Amino acid sequence: MPHTELIRRLPKTELHVHIEGTFEPELMFEIAQRNGVRIPYADADEVRAAYAFHNLQSFLDIYYAGAAVLLHEQDFYDLTRAYLLRCREDNVVHTEIFFDPQTHTARGVAFETVLNGIVRACREAKENWGIGSKLIMCFLRHLPEESAFETLKTALPFKEQIIGVGLDSSEIGHPPSKFERVFAKARKAGFLTVAHAGEEGPPEYVYEALDLLKVARIDHGVRSEEDDALTARLVAEQMPLTVCPLSNLKLKVVNHLGEHNLRRMLRRGVLVTVNSDDPAYFGGYINQNFIELARELDLDTDEIRTLCKNSFKASFMDETEKSVWCRRVDAVQAV
Ligand code: ADE
Ligand code: ZN
Repeated sequence: MPHTELIRRLPKTELHVHIEGTFEPELMFEIAQRNGVRIPYADADEVRAAYAFHNLQSFLDIYYAGAAVLLHEQDFYDLTRAYLLRCREDNVVHTEIFFDPQTHTARGVAFETVLNGIVRACREAKENWGIGSKLIMCFLRHLPEESAFETLKTALPFKEQIIGVGLDSSEIGHPPSKFERVFAKARKAGFLTVAHAGEEGPPEYVYEALDLLKVARIDHGVRSEEDDALTARLVAEQMPLTVCPLSNLKLKVVNHLGEHNLRRMLRRGVLVTVNSDDPAYFGGYINQNFIELARELDLDTDEIRTLCKNSFKASFMDETEKSVWCRRVDAVQAV
């Protein structure tokens, strides 16, 4: 397969992955069994067969149901460790992981339980495999502003372990403006900000994320291209988009990967990156996203390299570390 070996060898960061979206059915069954939680499927294959989505909401309904199996710190540790093992396989040297506290606190699982399990796995991955990570706490946008305020308050004592806040879940009908005040408070407390925008929602939501939430990156943002002035602004500001090709395919944002606008945006000068979003649900971790996209869009080796360098540039690593990794990307021999 063209470029597969190069993609495997290139170091990269992942900037858009929901830890709850890395929950593989096999681990889901194992944890459900030890927690005495029933799953309405016979086995992992039957679970996978249920993963046929027609839009974002049809996925989210199943994704939240799967996450309900997670109860104890060890569960969050096991989940995160399994994802970080996949990072090692895919040469992801740094990852910025989303977690959705409200999905768990609403079920009576303490914020600390979630965070401690994730943090322990991240610490071990750094010690054992040299993989760096940062955590981004997302607010569920289908819930009221008040719930996001409460979540922010709960997170404040753990500020040192969380680099930023994000916004995810059902996009349409829940514009970024709904969370303008929460994000202002989060920024004041020292959190960086990112937001899902322009996945299913219109370019207007991307403008709101930029102007009202003052984000450092747009998650997805693929619909930005519909607005020429917005695209020009993304280029001028070198505002990163964390694009998730297989997610866009599985959630029917595009009908075929060959129709994806990533290459057009890349050629226009937008700082696009490639990410997996919810790899256990969408059929592939980061390298699989690169491989399928490269094949369907006929990306050349320079473009693949640029995407890897973009992942470092768009990350929250410090500037010196970013340039060291970009040089390492350039030093990988083409195959
Ligand atoms: N939560 C998990 N994956 C998501 C996505 N692709 N869009 C919005 N919210 C999400
Ligand atoms: Zn996402």
